[in-house]
Amino acid sequence: MMQDITLTRRWPSVVERDMQDYGNVRLNEQDVPFDDAALAKALQESDILCPTVTDNLSGELLLADGVKTRLIANFGVGFNHIDIKAAQARGIHVTNTPGVLTDATAEIALTLLLTIARRTAEGERHLRSGNWMGWRPTHMLSTQVTGKTLGIIGMGRIGTELARKARHGLGMRIVYYNRSQIPESVTVELSAQRMELDALLNTSDFVSLHCPSTPQTQHMIDAGALGNMQRHAYLINTSRGDVVDEQALVNALENGVIAGAGLDVYEQEPKLADGLNQLENVVLLPHMGSGTAETREAMGRCALRNVGAFVNGRQLPNEVC
Ligand code: 8YV
Repeated sequence: MMQDITLTRRWPSVVERDMQDYGNVRLNEQDVPFDDAALAKALQESDILCPTVTDNLSGELLLADGVKTRLIANFGVGFNHIDIKAAQARGIHVTNTPGVLTDATAEIALTLLLTIARRTAEGERHLRSGNWMGWRPTHMLSTQVTGKTLGIIGMGRIGTELARKARHGLGMRIVYYNRSQIPESVTVELSAQRMELDALLNTSDFVSLHCPSTPQTQHMIDAGALGNMQRHAYLINTSRGDVVDEQALVNALENGVIAGAGLDVYEQEPKLADGLNQLENVVLLPHMGSGTAETREAMGRCALRNVGAFVNGRQLPNEVC
C-alpha cells in the first residue's frame, strides 16, 4: 500500500522528486510554516511526516486522537522541536540527519568567530555607509585569532570539526567541556584539554556552543556564566538559541561583560531579543549553519534513506528513539 508522506517545507527539488518513489507525497507548495492546526492535520493524514526545526511537534499534537503518523523523518540533526517521549508513547519512530551537516555548520561557527573578532561585518557596514575616510594606523582595530584559546562546549561531531579547523588552520589552543569521554585519538590530534564548565569559561578567548538543547542545557549560558567569561572574550552559538539566555546576553554585551557574540540561532526564531539587533558587537545570521546547497541536498538524501528503510521494513539508519 502506498504511504502518505508530508514534507512540511520545500526541500531541494531532486530530493522531493526521489521521495515520490516511496508514496503519495504532499508538498507545501508555498513553503509557509505549518501552524498547530496544519501540523495536526498532517499528523492525521500522513503515515510519514517529514518536518524541520520550524515545526513544533508538541506532546499535545502527538498524543491527540486520530494521529496516523508512524514515522517522523526530521530534516535536520537537532530534534528538540519534537516531544520524543510523546512520540515514543505513541509508537512513532523518529529519525534525524546526523553527520552530513558537520562541515557546513563548523564552517559557519568559524565564520562567526572570524567575523566578530576581526570586525569584518562592521567594517563592511562602515564602507557601504560612505563614511570611510581611507586607511589610518588606528582605524577599526580588531582582535587577532591565531593562537588564541577556543573553548568548545559539546565536543560531538560539529564541535570536534570546528576544533580541527581552528587548531590546524589557525593554531588555536583547544579546550573543551563534554559530558562523556571523547576518543583519545581526537584529544591527541588536537592537543585538546578537557575542563569543567567554569574553568573553560574563564580560560577561553572564544567560547563556541555545540551541545543540543535539552532540559539540562537550556540557559546554560546565563548571566552567571557570561560573568565567568573574560571581558575580552567572544561567544559563538550555532547550536540552539535557548542554550543561551538571550536577554542576559544582550545585557552582557551592552555592559561590556564580554566583548561580543556571533549568533546563528535564537530563542524565539525568527524573533530576536529586545535590543540585540541594535548592537555593533554582535554578528547575527539567520540560522544558516547547514545552508549550503550540497549539505541541504545531503540532509534530504539522509531523510530519504530513513523513509526508504521504513517503507521497506528495514532497520532505520538514524533512529533517535
Ligand atoms: C537545519 C539545524 O537547518 O540540523 C539542525 O539541527 O539546526 C539546521 O542544520 C534545521 O534544523 C533544519 O531542520
